Amino acid sequence: MSRNPIVPFILIFALGIGLIFFMSLYGLEQKEEIAKDANGETEEVEDVAEFDPAEVAQGKCVSCHGGNLEGGGGPALAGTDLSHDELVEIIKNGTDGGMPGGLITNPTELDEMADYILSLE
Ligand code: HEC
Repeated sequence: MSRNPIVPFILIFALGIGLIFFMSLYGLEQKEEIAKDANGETEEVEDVAEFDPAEVAQGKCVSCHGGNLEGGGGPALAGTDLSHDELVEIIKNGTDGGMPGGLITNPTELDEMADYILSLE
């Protein structure tokens, strides 16, 4: 039984077209994913730029200063008698008495954290 010799070529041709079609669809999908990723990252960057002292305190300070900074292993920060500048100094450099320095280093963030502490009663 003899086959038409053109059939294998047509099959390969069809496969090739199919593959190109599939890859371009896949590419389109990836493009959307990439666009989504880019958006996600932009949002994250905005979040980081927007320093929220209450949130940072929850992450970095409550383990020693208590859940509402009312005192724990470290002294109460809420209702402190320290001045704004003293607060900045201590948060930046820490103390020999057990307060670790360098938890916050950005001057603007130090400023906002001091303001936040002073806003607590
Ligand atoms: C590892 C535990 C620990 C962590 C974490 C910590 N502190 Fe402290 N902090 C202390 C201790 C202990 C003292 C008391 C130091 C002393 O008396 O010399 C202190 C003292 C302070 C003081 C001076 C209070 C006073 O009345 O003298 C401030 C202000 C302060 N911490 C702010 C912060 C902030 C803001 C954070 C989070 C960014 C933080 N601390 C994280 C342990 C910690």
